[in-house]
Amino acid sequence: MKLVGTIRLGGDKSISHRVLMFGALISNKSTFKNISVCDDVKTTIQILKQCNISIEQDKNIVKMIGGTLSAPQKKLDIRNSGTTMRLMLGLLAGQNIGAQFIGDSSLSKRPMKRIIKPLLDAGANIKSNNNYLPIEISRGIIHPINFIKKTKSAQVKSSLIFAGLGNKNESKIYYNKFTRDHSENLLKYMGKDIVGDNSLLVKKNNFMKGLDIEVPGDISNASFIIAAGLLLQDSNINIRDVLYNNLRNGFLDTVKRMGANIEVRNIRYCYGENICDLVIRYSPNLKNVKITKTQIITMIDEIPVLVVLATQAKGKLIIDDASELRIKESDRINALCSNLIKMDADIEETSNGLIISGGKKLYSTTINDFGDHRIAMSFFVLNLYLNNNLNRQSEISNISFPEFHSLLRKLSI
Ligand code: S3P
Repeated sequence: MKLVGTIRLGGDKSISHRVLMFGALISNKSTFKNISVCDDVKTTIQILKQCNISIEQDKNIVKMIGGTLSAPQKKLDIRNSGTTMRLMLGLLAGQNIGAQFIGDSSLSKRPMKRIIKPLLDAGANIKSNNNYLPIEISRGIIHPINFIKKTKSAQVKSSLIFAGLGNKNESKIYYNKFTRDHSENLLKYMGKDIVGDNSLLVKKNNFMKGLDIEVPGDISNASFIIAAGLLLQDSNINIRDVLYNNLRNGFLDTVKRMGANIEVRNIRYCYGENICDLVIRYSPNLKNVKITKTQIITMIDEIPVLVVLATQAKGKLIIDDASELRIKESDRINALCSNLIKMDADIEETSNGLIISGGKKLYSTTINDFGDHRIAMSFFVLNLYLNNNLNRQSEISNISFPEFHSLLRKLSI
């Protein structure tokens, strides 16, 4: 089997969450095209509706009128979406809106101190289950935020940006410069440049002008299609209109260094971000390469599929300084190692990562996806390569990439 053809991808999940939350702050009509229709973004839409924002959706087009955020009647069920949880807590804290948050069993195990602590320091009143869900906020921030970077998390940074946008005094957010910058880029597109010399400077804004944005294709989702195209003999795939942002390109840059035959074409500016077209061709001679700490941040969600690819490349791949992977939708380091050991890979789990020697013959087996969409899709790609079988579909990909299986079918010959 090979993958051949031209595709476009659903909107980038990180950007979709953010445009919807900015739309909620704008007292006017905004229109967003190519919004991701994944479950996580559906959750953000549902939560904003519960907070009294008027939203109409027709497939991947959303029309909304913001400026009416207010307290929800019922608990907010954030389901599996870490980004919705963390960004919404900041957004509501900035607007002084009370709410109760709950989530599914995976989200309930994910740490929220990273966001609760800086909001508490800025005067918010937040109760939680020892810094885990359920969480209740009863008063928003009353002082500007003075945040010194403690995590490498874009979610924390964006949450504090949203919170700071509700306070009339200027907040100063010192942040990790390698974390994704979509909130900053959108604000710049809206006429507010918040990027200072070494911090972000944010204060209350009355956003009036509606946005009209087409969301670029999701580069994280592209990585699964790219990996499959590199592995399957004679594949030749075009991916059009996909996000091209240095802080999200870690996977693309790494596989190119590994010897992947990928062309990046037509880089162009589009609604605050760059987009491009990608041409991916079968690449049989991949070699594992060294990865730095900062590169890990720019491909944090793509590490599972990179590791899968590394099993088929020559030499060693060392993933280090990646402890954040242990607190994603699953412990991704353990999920990768335990499944790959079952497949007979040469892999060792370390405290902050893993070491894998590629090139060993692997055996296709039943995978434990640990309830994690990205683990499921990574091993789907590996099993596809090992036994050319498109049939082991699982609905879990709907969390972030609902078109995953249909696009692979469309491309397969
Ligand atoms: C995201 C940031 C990352 C990433 C997540 C989406 C975002 O999380 O893993 O899937 O949209 O800001 P962290 O900020 O926790 O690293």
